[in-house]
Amino acid sequence: MNDIFKTESIIFQKKAVLSEQYLPDSLIARDGQIREIAELIEPSLHRGVPNNGLIMGQKGTGKTSVAKFVIKQFNEIAPKDEIDTVCIFVNCGIANTVSRVILEIVHQVSPELQVPKTGLSMNEYYNILWDALNEKQTSIIVVLDDLEMLKNLDILMSLSQAGGKMHIANDVHIGIIGISNDVFFTEKLSPGLIQSVNYKEVIFPPYNEEELAEILNSRSSIAFREEVIDEYVIPTCILLSQKDGYAYKAIKLLEKAGNIAERKNEDFVSDKHVFLANDELKSESGIETLKKLPIHQKLVLLSVVRLAKVSDEKITTGQVVAEYQDLCSKLDLNPLGRTSVSKMISEFDMQDIISASHRSRGRYGKTRLINVKWDRDRIKEALYYDYKLKDL
Ligand SMILES: Nc1ncnc2c1ncn2[C@@H]1O[C@H](COP(=O)(O)OP(=O)(O)OP(=O)(O)O)[C@@H](O)[C@H]1O
Ligand SMILES: [Mg+2]
Repeated sequence: MNDIFKTESIIFQKKAVLSEQYLPDSLIARDGQIREIAELIEPSLHRGVPNNGLIMGQKGTGKTSVAKFVIKQFNEIAPKDEIDTVCIFVNCGIANTVSRVILEIVHQVSPELQVPKTGLSMNEYYNILWDALNEKQTSIIVVLDDLEMLKNLDILMSLSQAGGKMHIANDVHIGIIGISNDVFFTEKLSPGLIQSVNYKEVIFPPYNEEELAEILNSRSSIAFREEVIDEYVIPTCILLSQKDGYAYKAIKLLEKAGNIAERKNEDFVSDKHVFLANDELKSESGIETLKKLPIHQKLVLLSVVRLAKVSDEKITTGQVVAEYQDLCSKLDLNPLGRTSVSKMISEFDMQDIISASHRSRGRYGKTRLINVKWDRDRIKEALYYDYKLKDL
């Protein structure tokens, strides 16, 4: 078959600007925060000591984007002025332990160093970091994004006390900037840590409707072809993203709405596509939550989707219990009783994953007729994501 790729899109002009990785050239309504973060690290450009900071604000309020924007500019200017300070961005969602954060910093300061990923004591990891900084005579500003994901906050204390404890040379400095979407994050910090790190707070308030509209308008004008999106698209994206995710969700909806229109071979995007995009997002996040279910819940749901092979096929609680018991024995697990299974079925019903209506069986009591409402293949995919279920 020829032409398996669609090389031209009638909807998108530059879709990449809607992706999570995209860093816009200018950030809307964040001049104040950009200035506050720049002020934290500015002393380094004058061979002074950087200030520590804590950036806080709800999801999707631009914390990561603004921080990366400031870091990029700093790392461009500093070498030109022969300043030996680098700003290092660490994603604590990935580097979520002290050793991984240290490895990330060392990798950016001395990429040539081969440091074992495991097997060293914490002291040994810290010593590798101090040696790397002293050897290169480099000061660092460590920006720890999604700080609430870091399993142990001791590293904040160690980094802030490195100079005082003479681990690093006099002219080597460490600045720390934490970022968190937990607006109560400071309440989790001990008074000793707060005193030692002595940070300034930078707050990211949620965007208002006009600011969100400006963000979406500027992004969509690059992302979409001219006159492809109608006037209701952006207001609908804003309406549907006000409760959660702010700019993040609004941009995601815009991207998905465009994808849906493209999939349907339509040549424009309307609010109808945004609503469909919202449904898709909801089901995706629902599928993600299935991956986190406890094992017995997964097995009960797996039993249902294995038995109900077509979308309107109805099965009974008894059949589910038998299938579930069979799966448990294959995994050498003790099955839970029928009441527990029945309760789980009710929960899945309440979450609208399945429908389970009661039906009287006369003198044999009551049973339930169950059918699956979500896409069976996607449920299975989420459940089989658990390696314990792989061979079932
Ligand atoms: N002021 C802005 N101007 C332009 N785009 C923005 C702005 N703020 C956020 N965005 C866009 O919104 C999305 C979410 O922003 P970002 O990831 O920076 O938020 P966040 O506060 O770090 O969220 P989280 O707490 O979930 O990590 C990104 O696509 C980003 O480009
Ligand atoms: Mg972020």
